[in-house]
Amino acid sequence: MVVTPWEVRGKVDYERLIREFGTQPISEELIRRMSDNTGEVHLQLRRRLFFSHRDLDTVLDLYEKGIKFVLYTGRGPSGPVHIGHLVPWIFTKYLQEKFGTRLYFQMTDDEKFVVDDQAKLADTTKMAYDNALDLIALGFKLEDTFIIYDVEDIDLLYDIALEVAKRITLSTARATFGFQDSTNLGWVFYPAVQAVPCFIHMKLTGENVPALIPAAIDQDPYWRITRDIAPKLGYFKPAQIHNRFLPGLGIGGKMSASEPDTAIFTTDDPETVKRKVWNAFTGGRGTVAEQRKLGATPDICSVYQYFLYLFEENDKKLEERERQCRTGGVFCGDCKKDLTERIVKFLSDHQKKREKARSTIGKYHIKR
Ligand code: TRP
Repeated sequence: MVVTPWEVRGKVDYERLIREFGTQPISEELIRRMSDNTGEVHLQLRRRLFFSHRDLDTVLDLYEKGIKFVLYTGRGPSGPVHIGHLVPWIFTKYLQEKFGTRLYFQMTDDEKFVVDDQAKLADTTKMAYDNALDLIALGFKLEDTFIIYDVEDIDLLYDIALEVAKRITLSTARATFGFQDSTNLGWVFYPAVQAVPCFIHMKLTGENVPALIPAAIDQDPYWRITRDIAPKLGYFKPAQIHNRFLPGLGIGGKMSASEPDTAIFTTDDPETVKRKVWNAFTGGRGTVAEQRKLGATPDICSVYQYFLYLFEENDKKLEERERQCRTGGVFCGDCKKDLTERIVKFLSDHQKKREKARSTIGKYHIKR
């Protein structure tokens, strides 16, 4: 297994990541504390799609004492958005609503340019604005949502980026990110830019509050170095809550835009969705007769994972589907058909909102 901010390969062992990265598992107790504030337990917490954290307890302590927090997450605009990207964004929106907090969302067109030899800056920048449409389509609250486009907004970020960069040595950066002698300077400096939104709220409002970052766990190295230097700059350490990756439709591995046939993009049309889901890897048996007799294996089935992550909100119905699968009462074709319908319905609604977002995108810009 390889899990770095730039590469995720192999079967991800989340327990091992908690140990190796030194994060905390999300306990029952912490989930209860969340629900004390939110009223119920979000699907992504209930099903442990968010499974690990740093300092979520501290953020809740402060919140209960009247010190708010801000949310921060982001997107590296290397290509179009697929439904795996939406998973943490949906949870972020929920937190924004329940806690009435601000969200800073960073579009890292600079990062995607420097880390890829082939990338052109004009393309990653264009993709940043395109990806923002998907974010806005999810319904984030306008007053509380501030999108940062790194290249366009660098003047706003640069002073804080310098304060951060000055306090991180090359040897720390090497140890954290595995930088080599051949790594370009843009890439080496970039982590300072990704740290900035953890702290920018103070510059904009004068309020010193912690940032809570919902993100996939591959981003953790960035926050490790940011946490080390935060107190030196007079800020709270950024807290995090980490989600699992939505698997792709193939065998193992996360959903990845570089394997377009195993990823559902937010702009896919119904025919495309149907074809991709139809070709998905499942836990089914070789023949219908065998499956009726022996049952199938939802644990390894990509189709089942989509119900779990996004497309079956009802826990009872999800359990029932799982039971039916194991006992041979439902066939892969049935699940694929149900899933296709749900994805198509979700996307047709999303695509309308995405088009509408073209006229409002400017209102979400941090420099509005
Ligand atoms: N580096 C992230 C990526 O490649 C983008 C990003 C920037 C981000 N800031 C973030 C992701 C904060 C999560 C949280 O996708």
